[in-house]
Amino acid sequence: MGVVISGLGVGIPQRVLTNFDLEKMVDTSDEWIRTRTGIRERHIASDGENTSDLATSAGKEALASAGLSPSDIDLIIVATITADMPWPAAACQLQQRLGTRLVPGFDLSAGCTGFIYGLWTADQVIRAGGANHVLVVGADCLSRVVDWQDRATCVLFGDGAGAAVVSKSGNDEGFLSFTLGADGSGAPLVCLPGGGSQNPASHETVDKRLHYIKMNGAEVFRFAVRIMGEAATKALELAGISSEEVACFVPHQANYRIIEAAAKRTGIPMEKVFINLDKYGNTSAASIPIALYEARREGRINPGDTLVLVAFGAGLTWGASVLRWTMPNG
Ligand code: ACO
Repeated sequence: MGVVISGLGVGIPQRVLTNFDLEKMVDTSDEWIRTRTGIRERHIASDGENTSDLATSAGKEALASAGLSPSDIDLIIVATITADMPWPAAACQLQQRLGTRLVPGFDLSAGCTGFIYGLWTADQVIRAGGANHVLVVGADCLSRVVDWQDRATCVLFGDGAGAAVVSKSGNDEGFLSFTLGADGSGAPLVCLPGGGSQNPASHETVDKRLHYIKMNGAEVFRFAVRIMGEAATKALELAGISSEEVACFVPHQANYRIIEAAAKRTGIPMEKVFINLDKYGNTSAASIPIALYEARREGRINPGDTLVLVAFGAGLTWGASVLRWTMPNG
């Protein structure tokens, strides 16, 4: 048997925030943002538009593209660090809003690596016989937790959702390998310190701006370059695939320079790397599924192609997967 991606969908907010808009908000420039990150603009959720709305749109489209109805889904996994509220889980909202059966659903917190963690979980549950079709959604609205006074972080992120239906297949195809990891010693490098049991919301936590993302950009950059290259290389080794056989490299869309360095370390030329961060910025857990969706739509991935997915994120976490693509074009 195999485990394949059988459907894809996205939920992208309409509102666009360009680098020129940001020039009016903080001391930055389009030139700085473009040359340091590759980002030109990002989509930002409107007032009243929340992570669950984007996740629901993505989930509906993924189901339709798989040719399945909500009742076919056996498990819902939402990778997110910005659910509508700390609990209950966004996956439970999706159960209701998509109208699935009363199947299990849970959220998964692995920062920008969350979608790959979700794919791996779905793959394992299906191989163990626990499900035939799993809906895996990556959805985040980091615009709700970035400090719009901190130019070092607010220029980097955008909002969005992407979803995949992961299904059992009778053929030996789809996911060929996964490698995942976590290193809690790097937790302070990118985190949201307020609002949990350590610093519950109070006037003091608000005054200290603890409910916003805190990040050591240079350290995260160094980690990302090393771990993306290592994880992608390991996933290829586990799959018994050489870098020359890879048709498309789909990395987490955080920074053009990180992607370039990671591709080089994996032995993948830039023409095989899919990049859309210029339009979306870093959409956290949504980054890989939105990139996969667009790569397919643009004809950059075709049935039979070998793909590498690779991401890093808060935790610190990382993950990579090699898969043989099966979805027909369209
Ligand atoms: N506009 C203008 N200047 C800026 C801006 C900005 N938006 N941001 C920072 N600067 C300044 C800094 O203050 C610094 O000035 P100084 O030298 O006078 O002190 C200078 O630019 C250089 O700053 P660096 O941090 O050295 O810039 P760098 O080249 O490292 O790029 C960046 C910074 C883009 C943040 C980079 O480090 C990066 O991409 N890191 C990875 C971040 C990331 O991917 N995070 C994802 C987290 S994952 C998750 O799960 C949420």
